[in-house]
Amino acid sequence: MSVTSVVGLQWGDEAKGKIVDFLTDSHEVVVRYQGGNNAGHTVKFDGQTYKLSLLPTGILRPGVTAVIGNGLVVNPDALLKEMKSLTDRGVRVDGGNLLVSDRAHVILPYHIIEDAVFEKRRGDNAIGTTGRGIGTCYRDKAGRSHAIRVGDLYHRETFRAKLAEIVAFKNLTLKSLDPSITPLDADAIYEAYVAFAEKLAPHVVDTTAWLHKALKQKKNVLFEGAQGSLLDVDHGTFPFVTSSNSSAAGIHSGSGVPQRAITRMIGVVKAYTTRVGGGPFPTELNDEIGQHIRDVGHEYGTVTGRPRRCGWFDAVATAYGARVCGVDQIAVMLLDVLAQLDELNICEAYDIRGERTTDFPSHVEDLEVAKPIFRKIPGWKKDITGARKLSDLPAGARQYVDTVSELLEVPAKFISIGPDREQTILL
Ligand code: IMO
Ligand code: MG
Repeated sequence: MSVTSVVGLQWGDEAKGKIVDFLTDSHEVVVRYQGGNNAGHTVKFDGQTYKLSLLPTGILRPGVTAVIGNGLVVNPDALLKEMKSLTDRGVRVDGGNLLVSDRAHVILPYHIIEDAVFEKRRGDNAIGTTGRGIGTCYRDKAGRSHAIRVGDLYHRETFRAKLAEIVAFKNLTLKSLDPSITPLDADAIYEAYVAFAEKLAPHVVDTTAWLHKALKQKKNVLFEGAQGSLLDVDHGTFPFVTSSNSSAAGIHSGSGVPQRAITRMIGVVKAYTTRVGGGPFPTELNDEIGQHIRDVGHEYGTVTGRPRRCGWFDAVATAYGARVCGVDQIAVMLLDVLAQLDELNICEAYDIRGERTTDFPSHVEDLEVAKPIFRKIPGWKKDITGARKLSDLPAGARQYVDTVSELLEVPAKFISIGPDREQTILL
């Protein structure tokens, strides 16, 4: 029996979707445990491209049950639209292959408005959120009194009363923050959300109980992380993070499956670094090399379309992510994007105010002044998208992967040299 976790070790967009898709053949259950429709997971197969946001990638595979765990924040409108976009393309999505936790929290219209208002007020210090109401919904979850869980939608009378009280409060605070905002109508939200709830009813279950039964039946379960370890609310570059435990730390709390059940922990790393939104980024390249990586790697956000910030591979940050998650193997993604560069840099340490360190700083004030100390790797200047085994790779590309693996102290198990499933080297 295999209980596998796939988690990003950087600032998201590590191409986790490809590895999850690759592994779904050998897993019967795929579980998302945190985040919401801020994620953007692209999967390509049979000449088709699928972009998933809230749905676990496993939904695309016949025979796989996709689970939206208790740790997510669910926008029911977005979920239903995503489900429809798949059924329109002939993908099966029904109560038999998609389960939604009754404990997951619900994103309501005011969360999206608050996300925009709070970001605007932060001005130059804006987090650069995806604007999906993710952080504001998690804020209400932690605050408890204004939270609505998926299961609450089915207790109509208490849901209506609670919503009326919350909306009155939200209208009051939003008006004082921005008088131009039109007050929200609790009745209209109630009607809309009851309609969403009816459509979602066949999917809503106690996913924790369901998962424990699946484990007892020795089903192979795969945990699909969204975002990355450096965006984790506890372990990431706070406050420029997302509001959930997007490292492997979120698996237990976000699914009810204990960490000790996991038999294989795969860390996904991009061969370079990208970041969307604000926050420090020591190896960022604001030059033509950065633009080259952005162009070749199509580094534009799946969710918001924003150009991603690009830079060299940062082994200090990524090794920290690997330690926090406890990964036992890594997948090195998008190696092909680096093919045409003359020389490559890998950051092996930081110089912070004259001191060399390989510890990842706790505070953005220190990370902002960290100067990367690079190890240079000769470029290979050769297209590698056709490689299918390690010996097909030029020496420079092998040296590059070996260096990443050495600095992370974790063996590489997968190397991805193109978007398609076949463009994967297994080690
Ligand atoms: P996937 O799963 C990259 C970033 C946002 C912003 C910060 C907070 O595709 O790797 P939020 O809307 O979550 O409150 O925004 O987190 N962010 C991501 N960056 N990939 C993602 O997901 C992200 N999800 C959120 O850009 O900086
Ligand atoms: Mg993404």
